Amino acid sequence: MENERLNLIAGKWGPATGGATQQDRNPARTDEVVAVFPSAGAEDATRAAEAAAQAFPGWARTPLPKRGEILLKAAALLEQRIDEVAEGLTREEGKTLAESKGETARGVSLLRYYAGETSQPTGEVYGSAAPGTFLYAERVPIGPVALITPWNFPVAIPTWKVAPALAFGNTVVLKPAELTPLTAWHLTDVLDKAGLPPGVLNLVVGRGSQIGPALATSPHIKAISFTGSNTVGARLAAQCAERGIKYQLEMGGKNPVIVLSDADLDKAVELTIAGAMLSTGQKCTATSRVIVHKDVLDGFRDKLAARASALKVGDGMKPDTYMGPLVSADAEKTVLEYIEAGKREGARLLTGGTKLTGAEHEKGYFVAPTVFDRVRPDMKIAREEIFGPVVAVMEAKTFDEAIALANDTPFGLSASVVTRDLGLAMRFIREIEAGLVHVNSQTAGAEPQVPFGGFKGSSSGSREQGKVARDFFTQIKTVYLDPP
Ligand code: UN1
Repeated sequence: MENERLNLIAGKWGPATGGATQQDRNPARTDEVVAVFPSAGAEDATRAAEAAAQAFPGWARTPLPKRGEILLKAAALLEQRIDEVAEGLTREEGKTLAESKGETARGVSLLRYYAGETSQPTGEVYGSAAPGTFLYAERVPIGPVALITPWNFPVAIPTWKVAPALAFGNTVVLKPAELTPLTAWHLTDVLDKAGLPPGVLNLVVGRGSQIGPALATSPHIKAISFTGSNTVGARLAAQCAERGIKYQLEMGGKNPVIVLSDADLDKAVELTIAGAMLSTGQKCTATSRVIVHKDVLDGFRDKLAARASALKVGDGMKPDTYMGPLVSADAEKTVLEYIEAGKREGARLLTGGTKLTGAEHEKGYFVAPTVFDRVRPDMKIAREEIFGPVVAVMEAKTFDEAIALANDTPFGLSASVVTRDLGLAMRFIREIEAGLVHVNSQTAGAEPQVPFGGFKGSSSGSREQGKVARDFFTQIKTVYLDPP
């Protein structure tokens, strides 16, 4: 079949056991099939875990600089393919081509960053209490790891898990989201072509409901890193805890922007729009609440609603599109349900709130950029992660009330304040309960060299990216070496 792609297990590209396939469709025009992929199940996941286990001793012994060379080569191959990967990403996920190119470039940077990490020290030498003992603690690989990744950043998130996992000597089973396998396929392909030995990286595209549990319960898998929903994360954590293996979860957000009375309102509007509407609001770091000081509420609200209603919504392949479709029919249904809940619970709809129809939109999952105000903290749209282009404006009478509202959530991923007051900005940095803190910039975005992750229900405590990724992808061996 045209544009059929395969899974990679033990160095061999192949179909799912039994041959089942699934279509990867374009959410902007649902009659377009972007690619056809295997619809793998538990059996394939088990084979992939076995392959990763077989490949592990050899890869763990491969010198770090050699692993780094392969990552560098993969970075160069991905960079050469950037236009093709970005176009595939836009066609399978819906975000704009500019966003897809930016994300693929981020993937290239991540591969280079972790290639560089392979020349960093692998441990520490300590002075021993015993004379003559050489005492050191070394970071060693964990084993075969399972990486389960979401559809919203289908290049960046697989790369920021796969690159450190491999750099630090682990072998991998990558299970990308069913909705966006093409980009993960490209990442796997460039690493394969860059010279990874068979079984070091295995790609299993298929049914999450089968593959997830098969990996979590496989005796070969020694750690799981997951980005996705809190519901799935909690289930995986329980399975990992039962087996006593390491896990890392990166889940939801309900990220606030606080606009203080001295803020530059144009800037506040721009960073709210970017945070809330880029990628159609489908980022765990998206802005979903704006908490505005009462003195500037009217002015901010009017500008925000005008800006949101003027955004160009359409196919992400078109150069003038600001916001693409939602990723799937289910995503669209959920977002429209949240909008209904907002109206029912008494929030005021300022703009948007509907599915878009008409020639340009009829074949896709398009929902208008939506702004509510008069949102109270007990409303669903103030409490739950929507994962769509919906932003809730809330009023605060004081700085303290703004912080209290911002922190009144089970999540704690990202937060921003817009102000010129250094003292209040510093109080915000101190008092906000979030793993990623922005002053005068949008809530989304993540540079590869710094830790990424959240407080409270947003993450399981560990951090991804940067040097800190080593903490998750290695274990420590403390060695007391004495002469015979
Ligand atoms: C970003 O804000 O650019 O799933 C990255 C997510 C996050 C990544 C956000 N893990 O949306």
